[in-house]
Amino acid sequence: MMTRNDADKYINTHRVEKNERPSFHVTAPVGWINDPNGFSVYKDKIHLFYQFHPYSTVWGPMHWGHYTTKDFITWEELPVALAPDQEFDAGGCFSGTAIEVDGKHVLIYTGVTEQTNEDGTKSSFQNQCIAVGNGETYEKPDANPVIDGSMLPADCNRSDFRDPKIWRAEDGTYYVLAGNKTYDGIPQVVLFRSKDLKQWSFASVFARDDDRQFGTMWECPDYFRLAGTDVFICSPQDMMADEEFHNGNNVACFLGKLNEDTLTFHTDKVFSLDYGFDFYAPQSIETADGRRVLIGWMQSWDTSNALPTDQKWAGMMTIPRELELKGDTLLQNPVRELADYHTNETIVKAAVRGESKLNGIQGRILDMTVVVEDGDFNRFSIALAADGKHRTTFSYSKTTKELTCDRTYAGWIRDINCTRTMRVKNEAGLKTLRFVMDQHSIELFINDGEQVFSTVIHTPMDAEDILFDCDGVVNISVTKYDLRFR
Ligand code: FRU
Repeated sequence: MMTRNDADKYINTHRVEKNERPSFHVTAPVGWINDPNGFSVYKDKIHLFYQFHPYSTVWGPMHWGHYTTKDFITWEELPVALAPDQEFDAGGCFSGTAIEVDGKHVLIYTGVTEQTNEDGTKSSFQNQCIAVGNGETYEKPDANPVIDGSMLPADCNRSDFRDPKIWRAEDGTYYVLAGNKTYDGIPQVVLFRSKDLKQWSFASVFARDDDRQFGTMWECPDYFRLAGTDVFICSPQDMMADEEFHNGNNVACFLGKLNEDTLTFHTDKVFSLDYGFDFYAPQSIETADGRRVLIGWMQSWDTSNALPTDQKWAGMMTIPRELELKGDTLLQNPVRELADYHTNETIVKAAVRGESKLNGIQGRILDMTVVVEDGDFNRFSIALAADGKHRTTFSYSKTTKELTCDRTYAGWIRDINCTRTMRVKNEAGLKTLRFVMDQHSIELFINDGEQVFSTVIHTPMDAEDILFDCDGVVNISVTKYDLRFR
């Protein structure tokens, strides 16, 4: 069995220097990360755990790594919280969430087990387990797993039953929402309830995709209320592309209403949470000052083998985003705390004709907003992380209202998917672009957060030009801050 101590020892002798990792995006001290886990407020800190395989830069037996923060930008590393060290989770401590109960920090996660059948084949089972701790160390009660797959209705697949999202209702009842599919391959999320976190019972199929529009399995559900609207988020596997979603793993956001009697979710509107290459499995919290803040894994399962070979860390989180509802449009913007790290304000107004650099507008670790005022053009583009050999270009067509990202020249060593096009939904077209850049990423917030596009890049750090290009003339105003970290 792999223990927490083994992992901590390994980390301490193999730690990757901080300056070789992104400056303000969460990465592992060494090794592989995927989903955010246990994003929660406990005592006076924000806790973030994550799917973690310290021993290599590819996915492996899942541990939970652990950070805390007070401002979402500077993170403090803690010892490994969970290792797959028990019979009920020997196949991995998969994703889950956390909650504060009577002064204790309770984690709920998926314990994976494997069984060898009489004919030699293997079956895997996924059950929900808890661990209780003080914000630093966590113990797993013997009563685990607390929610066993045998509690599911008979048509529900017990090998794909994972990623419990926990919350406490006003009447004190605890609810857990978990990803699942039927044996017929219909994706769904299932709801359980408990009065004491020990005895659980099946409550409902909370949401189900009978029309099979959204892939084959729903991972990592989240559920919360925002400005009177119920919001359900999940990460479907194996989707087919349409105008809104791309092929493979996506993140779907459903706005609607929970029927309190049947405990089923009615959907009014569904859309993609991020139109970029690298975004998955987000979780959210409500902060002490009442903000809904969401963080996701900034990586794609399909390109995770394309990292530079000398890099000893793999995968990172997005910048946490504040969510807000404007009518039925969900706005996502970087947490306001990012402004505390602003330095070197540069403001430039320009009429761009052809390709141009703007005075003082360059850099790689920055927060830059471009306001498109007006102009006479069809195509306008901005290339970042650029030099003679490299660039990542965002190109906008006024005629089609399509925005295309091309990251072909961003330092990849594999032939991965490098172009993606999204439609700008606002009737007025593209009005503002806010780029948040760190060493290995670009997150683009479009039209004050109406749409988001996140991408990983691996461009050498000295490629720091920013090039503006237009086939006619466009008037823009640019405000750029460098980001400074202590
Ligand atoms: C999503 C996911 C989860 C699972 C975890 C395993 O990225 O597949 O469903 O719990 O990763 O690491």
